[in-house]
Amino acid sequence: MTYDTMNETRRSLILGIPHPLANLANAAALLWEGLDRLNWAGFYLTVPGKDLLVLGPFQGKTACIEIPYGRGVCGTAAAEQLTQVVSDVHLFPGHIACDSASASEIVIPLRRGKGGPVVGVLDLDSPEKNRFGEEDRQGLETFAAILGESLPDDFPARLL
Ligand code: SME
Repeated sequence: MTYDTMNETRRSLILGIPHPLANLANAAALLWEGLDRLNWAGFYLTVPGKDLLVLGPFQGKTACIEIPYGRGVCGTAAAEQLTQVVSDVHLFPGHIACDSASASEIVIPLRRGKGGPVVGVLDLDSPEKNRFGEEDRQGLETFAAILGESLPDDFPARLL
């Protein structure tokens, strides 16, 4: 599926749906279905008031539950508030190997509203090295922005 199609689907799935947990769960399913060569797709959410991520909706194998800000690829994306594209996870210092099949990874900070605070990250893993490039970064940053705009002001406090 192209990112344009996926992001249009993302928009129409969200339209008027005030249920963030449902939107995140469907977002993980849409990514899993729409992109090839993945072994994990999902979210880690920021625990309010703590520099800590906790596992959110995802597709793939069971994963570690807590990741402190600054640790691994997810914790680095959350702490630096910047997308991380890792072509070979074995070369990333502190990478957390939830699934030993993972070879490359992209993590995008998830912001609430239009450019609001970072409330989590979107994490995709692939069993293939160099799986994620510039097109993926742009497509997934748009995907995260569409999703972020649908999140209510009290997200994720009410969930965690
Ligand atoms: N590899 C990630 C941990 C999460 S799993 O990939 C699902 C990391 O280093 O942050």
